[in-house]
Amino acid sequence: MRKILATTAIAAVALMALSGCSTRTETAGGDGAAAGFAEDSVIGVALPSKTSENWVLAGGLFEDGLEEAGYKGDVQYAGASTTVKDQQDQISAMVTNGAKVIIIGAADGGQLATQVQSARDAGAIVIAYDRLILNTEAVDYYVAYDNFNVGELQGQALLDGLATKGDGPYNIELFSGSSDDANSAVFFGGAMSVLQPKIDDGTLVVASGQTDIKQTATAGWKAENAQSRMDALLTSTYSDKTLDGVLSPNDTLARAIITSVKAAGKDIPIVTGQDSEVESVKSIMAGEQYSTINKDTRVLVAQAIDMVNVLQKGDTPEVNDTESYDNGKIVVPAYLLPPVIVTKDNAADAYANDPTLAPLTE
Ligand code: BGC
Repeated sequence: MRKILATTAIAAVALMALSGCSTRTETAGGDGAAAGFAEDSVIGVALPSKTSENWVLAGGLFEDGLEEAGYKGDVQYAGASTTVKDQQDQISAMVTNGAKVIIIGAADGGQLATQVQSARDAGAIVIAYDRLILNTEAVDYYVAYDNFNVGELQGQALLDGLATKGDGPYNIELFSGSSDDANSAVFFGGAMSVLQPKIDDGTLVVASGQTDIKQTATAGWKAENAQSRMDALLTSTYSDKTLDGVLSPNDTLARAIITSVKAAGKDIPIVTGQDSEVESVKSIMAGEQYSTINKDTRVLVAQAIDMVNVLQKGDTPEVNDTESYDNGKIVVPAYLLPPVIVTKDNAADAYANDPTLAPLTE
């Protein structure tokens, strides 16, 4: 089943490539890029802990996809508690084992500079996967969904959902992701680019006054942290007010927020999400969570493996963004995939080819 998925996803990526993404001409990164490497080389994949379903899926897809392509895949997850140290050690071990490419979903994007520099020094090529790696020149490529657009879509979904409740002003609260994940600020920035004008003109009211990303952050992307912040907000701010909407950066946190609101005996507000997690898609179909974002993990993994295949031949992978992802040292050449907003209205269509969510289409 997985092999079929990987093949389908690779075909999808090939189609996207054909449909006109720009081609990179300048050479990026390590010297290894020009030389290529053996077809059965070790390819390391260092993933963070399993904070959401997309990471769980990615591990299996990388294992199968790399094996199918003939590589020796070395796929590792950081543990739940010693996350940063685990991942640093895993990357160092991949370098020692002679990995030619190391694909990294950073547990903490700000704490890998030493390890990726060692990888570069050993001739390995580093691909940041989904999350950017910060403050180092030794990142060759970034492959992800367009994170700013994810935020914009979440902001727009919140507005669309609120509009179904009648006229404003609407009381809302804002949640963002973990501050050690470079994506969190980008998602939040994208969402606020849509929401801030509506806050400024009085359509939206953040009744708690907590609009700064530091106040809205959810440490470790953990459900219990979002739930306890929502509990506290309900007590402090909503004893005599209606909560109309909540910007949630992903599905895991959306469900925690909904759990909190239900426990307080309140009506469920419009709540956004991201990741197409099975339980959230069910919740959307049941009319509870309002929206999610589809970022098909199969396509993202296939894109990363496709980059490895190009590098293996000594060629330069295609990128379609050379401006957006400044990591503090360099602008990392990126291949960005388009995210898709999903609500109850388009869920059946959006997941028509996703076997994990197949019951929706039956
Ligand atoms: C990913 C999201 C995910 C979050 C928590 C982010 O970096 O882009 O898809 O929900 O991490 O795991």
